[in-house]
Amino acid sequence: HGTSKVNAQGHLEIGGCDVTELAKEYGTPLYIVDEALVRQRANEYVTAFQKSGLKFQVAYASKAFSTMAMCALAEQENLSLDVVSDGELHTALKAGFPAARIHFHGNNKSPDEINMALDAGIGCFVVDNSTELKVLNALAKDKGLTVKILLRITPGVEAHTHDYISTGQQDSKFGFDLTNGAAKQAIKEAMELSNLDVLGVHSHIGSQIFEVDGFQMAVEKMSAFAIAIRQDLGLTFQVINLGGGFGIRYVDGDSPLPVGQYVAAITDTLISSFTAADFPLPEIWVEPGRSIVGDAGTTLYTVGTSKEIPGVRKYIAVDGGMMDNPRPALYQSVYEAVLANRANEANEETVTVAGKACESGDKLIIDLELPKANSGDLLAVFCTGAYNYSMASNYNRFRRPAVVFVKDGESDLVVQRESLDNIVGNDLLPARLLKTA
Ligand code: LLP
Repeated sequence: HGTSKVNAQGHLEIGGCDVTELAKEYGTPLYIVDEALVRQRANEYVTAFQKSGLKFQVAYASKAFSTMAMCALAEQENLSLDVVSDGELHTALKAGFPAARIHFHGNNKSPDEINMALDAGIGCFVVDNSTELKVLNALAKDKGLTVKILLRITPGVEAHTHDYISTGQQDSKFGFDLTNGAAKQAIKEAMELSNLDVLGVHSHIGSQIFEVDGFQMAVEKMSAFAIAIRQDLGLTFQVINLGGGFGIRYVDGDSPLPVGQYVAAITDTLISSFTAADFPLPEIWVEPGRSIVGDAGTTLYTVGTSKEIPGVRKYIAVDGGMMDNPRPALYQSVYEAVLANRANEANEETVTVAGKACESGDKLIIDLELPKANSGDLLAVFCTGAYNYSMASNYNRFRRPAVVFVKDGESDLVVQRESLDNIVGNDLLPARLLKTA
């Protein structure tokens, strides 16, 4: 993956850093991010859109991995940013990310979150429902502001992916339905609200999608909607936002297309949808998360105990688990891994990698081929850059790992490992529970 290779000592190296050295310096479990690969992915999007000649924004979906360092990197790569909470917004603003390039998502934004985003002067709200239309308009009016919005619509496209992360189908908690007239009604309503400026529409059909047809279908449906709205309501959309969802390769057999091919399919479909319609070509926005950071992340663990059940299975346990990577337990996601300190050795046995949480389901990888692993060996699990750190928890009161960025042989700590004091940092002991002498 990316800039990773096996060095002369048989150690895995990422971004020019020997991971056994990283383990010594920062401890394990450790999230390692290959900065050059993140930049390369960002650049693939930007370059592909530039080729189309269309105006565009590539908004990194920060839910995939939100830290101040990542926001700063996205800024340097000329990406915009999609946030879905006050926490993600705060992270971006603290990192100095330009507010005008921030887009705010969410199906139940609180008035406090809306006010915070209005005060920051963010570029665009993606409005999910009619309650939000009214609340946003009222809060903007209070502040004497007019805000740019996109309306989130469910285009009725079923993406080929896991049910839990498929969002474009009609039965979804997100957005206005395109097929039953709700979307058109919402546009009408938004046009009548004095402090909202409707830029266009947004849809997101799901995540970890390999085929282009779902994206093309969504573009066709939104384009047809844009043309109908111009005819019926006299409003010309300036923006069509297609969301994210572009798949990555986790294991052999996953077959995502190169980024450029998704982009070309989308931009070609957009251009051909509007050419016949005498309609000024809108800007195209996308919101990739996983495909920017997913394959650039590796989680480094130390192997501890093992247990062999003769004729059944051998478990090896690592010093992390579902608290730093809940995806196998949540979605039966599969990962590849190697023994990072003996990466040049041949595989000898099949093991199941267990975490240390108190749950039988805490298995990171089932049936992994490895050299015979001993206590103290390092296990590197690949493609953990997206939805790992961001979905990590303190279950069992384990501390969340540190995150390092590596590049050209240098490493920088971008998130410190949590301390035990962090664990109790928000706890309070009421006086009546204090031990009395
Ligand atoms: N835009 C919107 C409105 C979204 O809801 C999402 C993801 C994205 C963009 C970014 O999608 P991406 O390019 O990363 O596929 N926790 C799950 C994934 C949930 C995705 C939620 N929305 C997982 O670990 O697979």
